[in-house]
Amino acid sequence: MIDSKTLKIPIDALGESEGVVAQEVVSKKGVVILPAGVDISLFEASMGMLVKKMRENGVEFVKVNAPQQLSDDDIEDIIAKVYSDEGAIISKDKARDVVKHVDIVFNSIRDEDEIRPEMVNAMSNMGRDLTEDLLRNPSVAFSLGKVQEADEYTFVHSFNVAVLTGFLANRIYPGDREYLQTIVIGGLMHDLGKSKVPIDILNKPAPLTTDEFTEMKRHPNIGVSLALKAGVQDKDIIAVISGHHEKWSGMGYPNKKRGLDIPESARIAAVADVFDALTAKRVYKNPMSSRNAISMILKDAGVHFDTRVAREMLVSIGLYPPGSIVSLSDGRICIVVSGNGKDLVRPVIMLKEPKKKDRDGSPVFIDLKNERDLCIDKYLGHGDKRELGI
Ligand SMILES: [Fe+2]
Repeated sequence: MIDSKTLKIPIDALGESEGVVAQEVVSKKGVVILPAGVDISLFEASMGMLVKKMRENGVEFVKVNAPQQLSDDDIEDIIAKVYSDEGAIISKDKARDVVKHVDIVFNSIRDEDEIRPEMVNAMSNMGRDLTEDLLRNPSVAFSLGKVQEADEYTFVHSFNVAVLTGFLANRIYPGDREYLQTIVIGGLMHDLGKSKVPIDILNKPAPLTTDEFTEMKRHPNIGVSLALKAGVQDKDIIAVISGHHEKWSGMGYPNKKRGLDIPESARIAAVADVFDALTAKRVYKNPMSSRNAISMILKDAGVHFDTRVAREMLVSIGLYPPGSIVSLSDGRICIVVSGNGKDLVRPVIMLKEPKKKDRDGSPVFIDLKNERDLCIDKYLGHGDKRELGI
């Protein structure tokens, strides 16, 4: 447990401080100037007047319970536990194997200029295996599946998109194993055509020029040709490869399809694709928090994205996406590990038990849906900055 810490804040510094008044401040006549238990940010507008009043009454300091920020070590420690093989639904080893295989397929196409059916068969088997993981634990699979690794972006991105696409599809069509398998395999293969994009464009450590972007925009069609050549026949897999850059408004590529003309599997993959791209760490950009990425996707719902899929993303991940660090109404600080259906403000959280004499505190999972006396008090930030070392 990480308790809040009581600080004595000089009255002139109150405007720049954060926290809750720990002890009420009263005037010489006993009139309350600052009540206890109230967040000092609420007094922002009247702070000048309040400070003046406190000075007149000889008050120099205010005791404030400042929420203690987690140190980087605390965050790493919590995240390491959330992503540990012990609790992970998709293990790091499996994620690593999938990423490695996507890497092998891409490089083989690039080097030998051919795609063999056994390569896509292996990808399909991996997709089926990931689907079983998603079906076994649909609520936390997404939060535990996401992997970040800047150097192997395309391969890691394929893995993340496969997991997130499957996760969203399972929310829309719960338990539909066959559909899930095709959409997860589609996610793994969605950027197959990038194996034919010149490597200096693909790995350019900066945004692309117009010409480079034109070249990049060929990848969905190239991907479809490669998949067909390797014997892929499923229409949903082909639709994901072909249509994941189409936009609801008709302004996407390569076919400028619009609205419901874009196959649903591609509309789901489009949300997963952009979400992973926004939250990824690249050489030229820091990762965006999941919360901000969802908010951007919602803003573009009905223009870029299918509103239903974008809403599903919000509902399933919630207002506090996995990885959010939040403080609870009882002052404890915890990390959100998964959303909770339509109850956007009551996700499943994880906190650490207090350290005992001779052992580290172990993680405790609490479903806030079942804890009506406990709620999230404040969003403190996100823990997406980590490297997971795969
Ligand atoms: Fe793509």
